[in-house]
Amino acid sequence: MAVQPTTEYFDLLNMAVAREIQVSIQYMLQHAKMEKLIRKTIPENILFDKTTYDAVGKFLKEFAIVEMKHAADIMERIYYLGGSATTKANKVMVGNSLSEFAKNDVKAEEEALVLYRKIINTAKEVDDWETREMFEKIYGEEEQHLFKFQEYVNYKDEPEEAGNVALSEWRRIFTDDYFALLNKAVAAEISAIIQYTNQHEKAALLALRGKDTALEVILETNKAKVVSDLLKPIFLTEMEHLEKITERIYLLEGETVTEPEPLPQVGDNADDFLKLDHEAENYALVLYRKIIEEAMKRGDSKTRRMFEDIVSQEEDHYWTFDDFLR
Ligand SMILES: [Fe+2]
Ligand SMILES: [Fe+2]
Ligand SMILES: [Fe+2]
Ligand SMILES: [Fe+2]
Repeated sequence: MAVQPTTEYFDLLNMAVAREIQVSIQYMLQHAKMEKLIRKTIPENILFDKTTYDAVGKFLKEFAIVEMKHAADIMERIYYLGGSATTKANKVMVGNSLSEFAKNDVKAEEEALVLYRKIINTAKEVDDWETREMFEKIYGEEEQHLFKFQEYVNYKDEPEEAGNVALSEWRRIFTDDYFALLNKAVAAEISAIIQYTNQHEKAALLALRGKDTALEVILETNKAKVVSDLLKPIFLTEMEHLEKITERIYLLEGETVTEPEPLPQVGDNADDFLKLDHEAENYALVLYRKIIEEAMKRGDSKTRRMFEDIVSQEEDHYWTFDDFLR
C-alpha cells in the first residue's frame, strides 16, 4: 500500500518548502548586495576584501539556485503524495555586511538541520522511504552550506553607517518613491519565481496522471508536460531579473522588499497555470513600462536600459504562454 500521509505530515513538509523558498531569495539578495559591499571596502583592505566578497558572492548565487531546487523537489513530493505545496516563504533576512549575512545564513541552515532531522524521523515512522531518502540527501547539502557560512561569521567588516554622507547632485533623482516603484518589480519577480516553481512541480504530476486526447497518447505527451517543460527555463530568467534589479537598487543605496506582490497563485490544471502565468507576465509588462517611463523622465538611463531588456524577455514569456492558451 502506498503511504497515507496525514495533514500534520504535509504541514511538516510545507515548513521545509517555506524555508527553502526563504533562503533561496535570501541568498540571491545577498549575492546582489555583494557588489555594493565591494565598493565600500576601505583602501587598506581592498585586495583581501574584494577577493573574499567575490568568492562568497559566487557561491551565494549557486546556493540560491540549489535551495530553489530543494523547494521544487519537496513540492514535487508533496504533490505526488496527494497534498498541496505552499507558496508561502519564511521571513527573508538579508543583513548589511558579510558577517551579518553569515550570521543570518548560519541561523537559517541550523534551523533547516533541526527540521530535516525531524522530517527524516517522521518519514521513517510512516514508512515513506522516498521522502526520507530525499531529505537525507538535502540534509547533507544543508550541512555543507552551514560549514561554509560558519567560516564568515567573524569576518571583520562593519555594517555601514547610514545617512552621514551628503548626496551628490546626480543622485538626487533616486528618491524614496522611485525606490518604491523599483521594488514593485522586485516583488513581482519574487512572485513569478515562486509561482512558476510550484506550478512546474504540480504540472509534472498532472503530466504523469493523464492524457486528454488520443494524439497525446500516441505522442506520449500532454499539455501538462508541455507546461512543466516550459516553466523551468522561464523560472531561471526570472531569477536573473531579480538579481539584476536588486543589484541596481543596492548599488544606488536603496533597500529592497523581500516579499512577493501580487501573491503567487498556482491553479488546478495546465490551463489554469497558463492563464495565471499570462496574467503575471501582463502585470510585469505594464509595471515595467511604467518604470521605463519614470526612469526616462528622471534621466536614469542605466535603469531604463535594464528594464528595456527585461521587458523584451517578459514579452517572450507572455507570448510563450499565449501560444498554449487555446
Ligand atoms: Fe535547501
Ligand atoms: Fe542550504
Ligand atoms: Fe521577470
Ligand atoms: Fe517573465
